[in-house]
Amino acid sequence: MNIIIFGPPGAGKGTQSSFLVNKIKMFQLSTGDLLRAELKSGSELAKQLKEIMDAGKLVSDDIINELIEKKISDPQVKNNIIFDGFPRNLEQANALDGMLKKYDQKISAIINLKVDYSILVKRISGRISCSICKKPFNEFFDPPIEAKNCENNNCESRELIKRSDDNESTVSNRLKTYDEQTLPILDHYRSKGIVKDVDAMQSINDVTSQIEAIISDL
Ligand code: AP5
Repeated sequence: MNIIIFGPPGAGKGTQSSFLVNKIKMFQLSTGDLLRAELKSGSELAKQLKEIMDAGKLVSDDIINELIEKKISDPQVKNNIIFDGFPRNLEQANALDGMLKKYDQKISAIINLKVDYSILVKRISGRISCSICKKPFNEFFDPPIEAKNCENNNCESRELIKRSDDNESTVSNRLKTYDEQTLPILDHYRSKGIVKDVDAMQSINDVTSQIEAIISDL
């Protein structure tokens, strides 16, 4: 089973993916996390990526599709992937369709996290994440647990980090990009009958319960 977790910045895609990773041992493929890992390299590409990401724009499809194909072609994660933050425009959705065909896989559901935009700035401005396992916490809604109890039990030396694109002006650009380029691809998937809407305004645990119910019916 492959799943796409879908929604605007701050909707809870990473939070809910980490639940699926721990509970049902799926592999999380977060394009945002892969790009942030590249940023640390200090390469020329990293400088270009940082500029694009801090402006709230999308990184080029070629770079993203190459990252995705590397993972989707790995037999160890075949049919067990949560796509987090991908696809983000129609070109990426079409590229994904082609790759799924090529590697004989399919998407079982798009979990669409529905949330009012008014809450997103607070969610994003309160976000802090474990530097090791990447689990997101929130200063307002989900305070960090002790390091020794963090996801992988090896996060003792963790730092709690804030992202450079988590500021008010970048967030409004990220939302604009989402509305213009990402939201329209839901129609691509609605026509396949695999979109499952989730009320993501509820507490983290209640959102998880809705997702569990959807997955148990797949
Ligand atoms: P990416 O990293 O994908 O960011 P995003 O889509 O903007 O989503 P976020 O990570 O901000 O939010 P989330 O939905 O995961 O929320 P989270 O669970 O952390 O992308 C970053 C950038 O990389 C893009 O702008 C782009 O430049 C580039 N990029 C990435 N993928 C790309 C692609 N495919 N193509 C081109 N460019 C790409 O939750 C947020 C906070 O809210 C947390 O603190 C959490 O604790 C809290 N929270 C979560 N759920 C709840 C709840 N139910 N109640 C209360 N608080 C909650």
